[in-house]
Amino acid sequence: MQTYSHARSRELFARATKVIPGGVYGHLGPAEGCFMPVGAYPLFSSRAEGAYFWDVDGNRFIDYMCAYGPNILGYGDKDVEAAALAQLKEGNCVTAPSPRMVELAELMVDTVAMADWAFFCKNGGDTTMFALMIARAATGRARAVLTRGGYHGVAPWTQKEGHPGITSADVSNNLYVEFGDYEALERLFAEHHGEIACFMATPYHHPVFEDNRLPPEGYWQKVRALCDREGVVLAIDDVRCGFRLDTGGSDRHYGFEADLECFCKALANGWNVSAVCGKDSLKDAAGSVMYTGSYWLSAAPIAAAIACIGKMRELGAAGLCMEKGRKLTQGLAAAGRRHGFDLRISGEPSMWFMRIAGDDSWQTHQAWVAECVRRGVFFTNHHNHFINTALTDEDIAFTLEVADEAFAVVAKARR
Ligand SMILES: Cc1ncc(COP(=O)(O)O)c(C=O)c1O
Repeated sequence: MQTYSHARSRELFARATKVIPGGVYGHLGPAEGCFMPVGAYPLFSSRAEGAYFWDVDGNRFIDYMCAYGPNILGYGDKDVEAAALAQLKEGNCVTAPSPRMVELAELMVDTVAMADWAFFCKNGGDTTMFALMIARAATGRARAVLTRGGYHGVAPWTQKEGHPGITSADVSNNLYVEFGDYEALERLFAEHHGEIACFMATPYHHPVFEDNRLPPEGYWQKVRALCDREGVVLAIDDVRCGFRLDTGGSDRHYGFEADLECFCKALANGWNVSAVCGKDSLKDAAGSVMYTGSYWLSAAPIAAAIACIGKMRELGAAGLCMEKGRKLTQGLAAAGRRHGFDLRISGEPSMWFMRIAGDDSWQTHQAWVAECVRRGVFFTNHHNHFINTALTDEDIAFTLEVADEAFAVVAKARR
């Protein structure tokens, strides 16, 4: 199999570093640590379609990052694009919102099991910030309990003390607990009785650099009862998992109901809209919070979300992604075994995490991932991956062929 090179990407990156801090910043850039060794990765894309993107050097990749989640129906899904483009012609960012806003709220209430209302913003971080503000407005309390290693965006309160730009005051209202440790949560609630506005967590634990963890049996049901007893708002950050476990919300997938649920990534198949859904009991508090943004009610992304939800429901997208993810991850683990590697798969199959066990430095894992990327299968290190419904059996077969060859290269180097 031929391996790729990225001369154009490097040229663009050199230009970018002169005029953009970090060249390519944040999660799409090489400094974030997911692209190691950086030389194996393309840094700029030229186009995307279905399960693939092409880099600026003309190399095609089967994309298992899906733009870090938004691509759920395949890049450029024709129904979603048609809805968004038709709305763009009618009007997008206008002084008064379009009826599409009401239609999307109605659709979300009909789709998301816990939802009595919906509120739209742009990014995932907008929704987690709003959820915390609603919880504070409703309870008159300040503190938030978060899980260690959980990610809720880049607002200062979500970051770690000591990181550049973050002060201790920014995180002074946070309390931290291990995901899945119900007893620790109960103790924390008792120690801070009457101070906690909300418990915010992802439906299952999908941090970087470690095996992802599903909730222990009965965990969410006990947490639900504890929050009710203590008057704490249960806010589920479904920004990443949302619509990949269950189209009705990941809380429904795990058999409980959140008070607030945050959605973004897969909501509009790449168009920029996010949403907070909530229970009636928090509707007045949500209405009382001062919260808005220049582009939040733009109609084209909202039209895209309507089309995307409709299509996800029609296809049973979450189930399809789970099925494809199961097939792929079983094949990847088997390829590893054939070459003497224990590839550990964790998390949910539609959003799996993987690492080669017994490789504490991650160097073998990174080398294997790099060999896959060089052959057109876009994985990253240290972060979970994503499945989209456009991924075909042929794509999975090709991926497994590449994974096998990549394991052979790494096994040979190790010998
Ligand atoms: C679980 C979770 N919450 C919040 C966010 C923040 O979303 P955004 O980057 O759109 O602000 C992300 C983004 O990756 C996420 O995965």
